[in-house]
Amino acid sequence: MRRHPVLVVTGARGQLGRCFEVLSRNYPEWTFIMAGSSELDITQRCALRHFLEKNRPDWCINCAAYTAVDRAESEPLQAWRVNALGPRYLAEICAQVGCALIHFSTDYVYHGRHYLPLREDASPRPRSVYARTKLAGDRAVLRLHPKAGMVIRTSWLYSPYGQNFAHTITRLGQQRSELRVVFDQIGTPTYAPHLAQAVLHVIEYVQQQANPTVVSGVWHYSNEGVCSWYDFAQAIADLKQLPCRIIPIRTEEYPTAAIRPPYSVLDKTKIKTAFGIEILHWRRGLELWVAQG
Ligand SMILES: NC(=O)c1ccc[n+]([C@@H]2O[C@H](COP(=O)([O-])OP(=O)(O)OC[C@H]3O[C@@H](n4cnc5c(N)ncnc54)[C@H](OP(=O)(O)O)[C@@H]3O)[C@@H](O)[C@H]2O)c1
Repeated sequence: MRRHPVLVVTGARGQLGRCFEVLSRNYPEWTFIMAGSSELDITQRCALRHFLEKNRPDWCINCAAYTAVDRAESEPLQAWRVNALGPRYLAEICAQVGCALIHFSTDYVYHGRHYLPLREDASPRPRSVYARTKLAGDRAVLRLHPKAGMVIRTSWLYSPYGQNFAHTITRLGQQRSELRVVFDQIGTPTYAPHLAQAVLHVIEYVQQQANPTVVSGVWHYSNEGVCSWYDFAQAIADLKQLPCRIIPIRTEEYPTAAIRPPYSVLDKTKIKTAFGIEILHWRRGLELWVAQG
C-alpha cells in the first residue's frame, strides 16, 4: 500500500461525490480521480476494468447510485443496473486489481418493527425496489470483495449540492403557507460532508495501519440524534426562517410509490469504536448546511 494513496471516486457529480471533491483540497498529497457518470459508467464492465487497470487506485469510493426512490418502482431495471450490477462489477474488478472498495448503502434496506437503533447485524427486510436493489449491491460487494469491501449504510442524506429534502423544504416553504410532512417515519438526517469526512478519516487510519482488511463488512453512519421528517422540516423552517407552517401528518395521508421504513435509526457504535470517529448531532449538521447558504 502506497503512503500517499490514489483514490477513484465514482458518481463524482452526485451530492456525496461533490463533498469528496471539496474535501480533497485538504489532502494535497493524495491523488483523487473524480469520475462522473459521463467519464465512468459503473454498469460498463469493460470500461470499468480498463479504467481501474489504467489508474491502479488504492481506494475506490463508489458514490454512483440510482437514488430516485419512488421512480425506481416503475424503473426497476435501471435501478437494478446501477445499484446491483454496477457494485458487483466494481467489487469483482477492485478485488482483482487489489483496490479497497468503499460502497454506500441505505437505511431503507431495513424495515423492522422494533424501536431500537439498528446495528449492522440486524436482518435486512427491503420493502421497495430501491431498497432491494441496494441490498443486492451490498451483498455483491461483501461476497466478491471479502478482503476489503466496505459497505456503509447511511440515512437521509443531504448536502449543499443537488436535490435533497432540505432544499425541497426550503423551496416549497418559500412558495406555500403550509407544508404537510410525515411525523411517523423516524430516522436521522446525515449531512453528506460529515459522511465524506468520516470516510477520509477511515482511509487515513487504514493507510497508517497499512492493513485495508479492517474495513471489510457492513458499517453504519449517520449524524447523531433521532427525529421524524416533520421534526427535520420544522428545524429547516426555523433556521431558514421560512414563512410557512409545518403540519405533521401520518404516512397514510401522503401516499408514495415506494414504501419507506417507519423506523430506521442507525447505531453507529461500530464505526465510532473501530476508527475513533466523533459524530456530530444532526442539528449541528443542519446549522452548517444553513451557513453554507
Ligand atoms: N440521498 C439519500 O437520501 C441517501 C440516503 C441513504 C443512502 N444513500 C446512498 O448514498 C449514496 C450517495 O447518494 P447521493 O445522494 O450522493 O446520490 P446522488 O446525488 O443521486 O448521486 C448519484 C450519482 O450517481 C451517478 N450515476 C448514476 N448512474 C451511474 C452509472 N451507471 N455510473 C456512474 N455514475 C452513475 C449520478 O450521475 P448522473 O446524475 O449523471 O446520472 C449521480 O451523480 C448512494 O449509494 C445512495 O444510495 C443516499
